[in-house]
Amino acid sequence: MCLVAVGACYVDTILTTPYYPGEDDKLRATSISRRRGGNCPNSLEVLQQLMAESPSDFQVPLNLVAILPARSSVAAQQIRSAFEPHVSLEHCIYREEFEEPASSYIIKSQASGSRTIVNYNELPEMTLEEFKSIVEGLKNPTGWFHFEGRIPDVTLTCIRHLRDRLPDTRVSVEVEKPGREGLQELAQEADVVFYSKTWAQHSGYNSAEECVRKQSLLTQNASLLCCTWGQDGAVALETCTRNLVHNPAYTPSGFQVVDTIGAGDTFIAGLLYGLICKGDTWDLSQKLGMANRLAGTKVAQEGFSNLGGVLKEY
Ligand code: FRU
Repeated sequence: MCLVAVGACYVDTILTTPYYPGEDDKLRATSISRRRGGNCPNSLEVLQQLMAESPSDFQVPLNLVAILPARSSVAAQQIRSAFEPHVSLEHCIYREEFEEPASSYIIKSQASGSRTIVNYNELPEMTLEEFKSIVEGLKNPTGWFHFEGRIPDVTLTCIRHLRDRLPDTRVSVEVEKPGREGLQELAQEADVVFYSKTWAQHSGYNSAEECVRKQSLLTQNASLLCCTWGQDGAVALETCTRNLVHNPAYTPSGFQVVDTIGAGDTFIAGLLYGLICKGDTWDLSQKLGMANRLAGTKVAQEGFSNLGGVLKEY
């Protein structure tokens, strides 16, 4: 049993600004920082901390499948050394003709807490053939595959391949980017779906509950649908029992929004942890509560460090 997370890896350059600038403005940032980003890498970073805190839990090896620049490039080496040995990058795809990683330039506004992301990625995307050979190369492939919902057409064929090749494998997908074509089809294929507020709003839903209730009519395979709604917390719907759980957003004492970059990725890490490592020992409400608590704690701090401690207090 292992967890394989499939998605892009970015290097994030974050400018903290007092407020969000207008077009053609000049504005001095209060700080600059650089860190490894990307939805799946962010989730894995949190998951590895949670697993380190709970060695008695059912442990699963963590794998990242992402496109990286040349194996010898500075970026690829830095990304590997930040993750190994807890997360394996053995199955990443290296594009030897490229030196630069996918990059995000992020304006983090202190006035609103928003994070505006502009990214650039020239690395050719993963193909189905590459994915198939990764699956063949996994030592113990049956387990859990989590897909960031990008390149939906390829991702859909990857999921169908898994259904043929490893029918006992569980599949989750993140449906995040508003308006991206093909995400609905991915949701239809998955066992667990994570919807973002922006995707849900763009699709005409006015609340997290409305999103999961209406989506459950369109997602025949899914056993669990989750939707986050910022300050309004998150909702999870178990489709076979129709059990719907709502959890308010967690705000630690003296709460202030410090860094929302990767809050959704942190939520996903918390829920995957509950689903994979806690199984039936936690009920749905405990799993959702943990995910929410992690995400709230993350928003109140810079980056992803020391989030494993949330589990100790839970
Ligand atoms: C946050 C994030 C950043 C990355 C961007 C990619 O969720 O993963 O780390 O730059 O989104 O879309």
